[in-house]
Amino acid sequence: MSTYTIDTATSRATPSPAPMKRLTAPAIMARKGKEPIVSLTAYTMRMAQLLDPHCDFLLVGDSLGQVIYGLPSTIPVTLEMMCAHGAAVVRGSWHALVAVDMPFGSYEESPEQAFRNAARVLKETGAAAVKLEGGEAMAETIAFLSKRGIPVIGHVGLTPQAVNALGGYRARGRDEAEAKKVLADARAVAEAGCFALVLEGVMEEIAAEATRIVPCPTIGIGASAQCDGQILVTEDMLGLFERTPRFVKRFGDLAAEIGAAAESYARDVKARAFPTEEQIYRPK
Ligand code: KIV
Repeated sequence: MSTYTIDTATSRATPSPAPMKRLTAPAIMARKGKEPIVSLTAYTMRMAQLLDPHCDFLLVGDSLGQVIYGLPSTIPVTLEMMCAHGAAVVRGSWHALVAVDMPFGSYEESPEQAFRNAARVLKETGAAAVKLEGGEAMAETIAFLSKRGIPVIGHVGLTPQAVNALGGYRARGRDEAEAKKVLADARAVAEAGCFALVLEGVMEEIAAEATRIVPCPTIGIGASAQCDGQILVTEDMLGLFERTPRFVKRFGDLAAEIGAAAESYARDVKARAFPTEEQIYRPK
């Protein structure tokens, strides 16, 4: 049984535009060195609806572990969570390519394990691509998936699923050995066939250099304006959290707006000023 519907106007709570063709992985790949690629994370149908007209791809990131579920890291995120949120984002979008993160433990064991779980993600969500973390060690897996019809976005530099091995969320490429490793990882996953590559938490010059040497578009987060595109966690850039990493620019102040709206609602309820005649039913 499928848990998704694609491009049906009726499944949406708000009007959807005339049917249009979604961006594809080859179309994103062809943007290398051209107009910058715009991407944000999305985990829910309504947020996808709001972001879709402005984005080339929406990422159902495993950052939903912290943002939606209040988990301490992305490590506990499950395939079931990714499928449920991935399907919601596909239902709420019609223009952007939707990519879903492979959660920790769902792809590292072998290319076969990765294929089995990535195929499940595409079948259950309707998304067109997956993203997975890791450099040289994941090259064989990325080649295996790409050759079998699963478009893959790579992710190197600061890879949050490796937080226990890295010892924290420090930006990568500070010394020569780390810089070389980031560049070797970027080259390896690009050669393996990923159609785009996220560079997270990487020294600016290294991110710019990686962008020059790989044939696929690079998508920066805490990286460089010279990347072929940028991505941020939507809730960070909307200003929903009091504290955000240094690389986040707040484009909104939603935490303050939500707090003020909740305060005003509470005031009205306590004063019996809500509901008013306009919001209640009476027999005609
Ligand atoms: O999980 C996530 O949201 C991500 C991005 C921010 C790149 O991997």
